[in-house]
Amino acid sequence: MFAAELSYKSQEATHVCDHVLHLDASHGEQSVIGCGASALFAHLAKLYPDVEVQHVRLWEEATRKEMEYNLEHVNAKMAMLAGRGSEETTQQFAGIEVLAKQLATARGLVVSAPMWNFAAPYVVKQYFDCVLHPGLTFKEVGAGPSGLLGGGRPVVLLTSSGGAAAKDYLTPWILDVAAMAGFDRPKVVSATGLVSRDRTTAIEVFRNQAEAATEHLTLEQGTDRPTKSLDEEISTSCGYEELRSWLESTGGLSSDCLDSLEAARVNGELFLSASDHDWRDEELGLEEADIARLQELQKKFREVAGDAED
Ligand SMILES: Cc1cc2nc3c(=O)[nH]c(=O)nc-3n(C[C@H](O)[C@H](O)[C@H](O)COP(=O)(O)O)c2cc1C
Repeated sequence: MFAAELSYKSQEATHVCDHVLHLDASHGEQSVIGCGASALFAHLAKLYPDVEVQHVRLWEEATRKEMEYNLEHVNAKMAMLAGRGSEETTQQFAGIEVLAKQLATARGLVVSAPMWNFAAPYVVKQYFDCVLHPGLTFKEVGAGPSGLLGGGRPVVLLTSSGGAAAKDYLTPWILDVAAMAGFDRPKVVSATGLVSRDRTTAIEVFRNQAEAATEHLTLEQGTDRPTKSLDEEISTSCGYEELRSWLESTGGLSSDCLDSLEAARVNGELFLSASDHDWRDEELGLEEADIARLQELQKKFREVAGDAED
């Protein structure tokens, strides 16, 4: 999707923290989803008294202001991606970095979202448009975007619909964007057909299901763990296959370029010491755009691989 990525300027997001993040677009505490969320978090507090839950109420005016994302932000982002960042673009992204970090570093995610016109209410879309940026919440790898700080983290989606929800764009979309940020172990709790059901019963059933979903948020339950970021694992002594994975994870190189480097068995040591002349070797046959990106990545590699050696 993107050939380059942003980096945090006013924040740092280096590791997964202890908080669970709740994105709340429900119709309020008395809604079916609202009741389910209360049951889930009450149970979570009982099981894990120390766990911190950060609630982002997407309908609240203050939150709406924080997640404002307009054409000025788009232009600032494009300038930064093109290496033309400035004091002004840093300022424009300062608030976005706070929200992005909160998502990128969460150990688990809960999304409360009723169905609106077959999809999610617009505040949910606005939130994800505001926080999903390469380098802030996800990174591009060969297979597509994945969590900045690794994957394997849980997401619970609490959703409801007035009708049967036979056509549902909400669930696959929320699970896709959550997975982009590293929350790729999904659990969905859904109440459908609410207009024609007894409300008390619907709430009771949903509360029970939401409470049971609490188990899904405990990392101890899963076999997957948040993975170490590739930056933490890479070192100058890495082989050509590891180097390729790292280059893929940073993004911005063509697959022809990656294939050429692999065919030439370029490992960490060779990568670090390669000169401009080396990159232009006819046998490698690299394009100008790839050479420029490789030279940028050599600097990044020196920083991250140097750290790993310490
Ligand atoms: C703007 C809007 C659009 C809606 N669109 C749909 C829809 O496409 N399909 C559907 O089944 N229900 C739709 N609904 C009904 C909501 O999904 C339903 O009110 C909600 O899930 C009920 O939750 P609650 O009783 O917990 O508040 C819509 C509601 C609103 C306000």
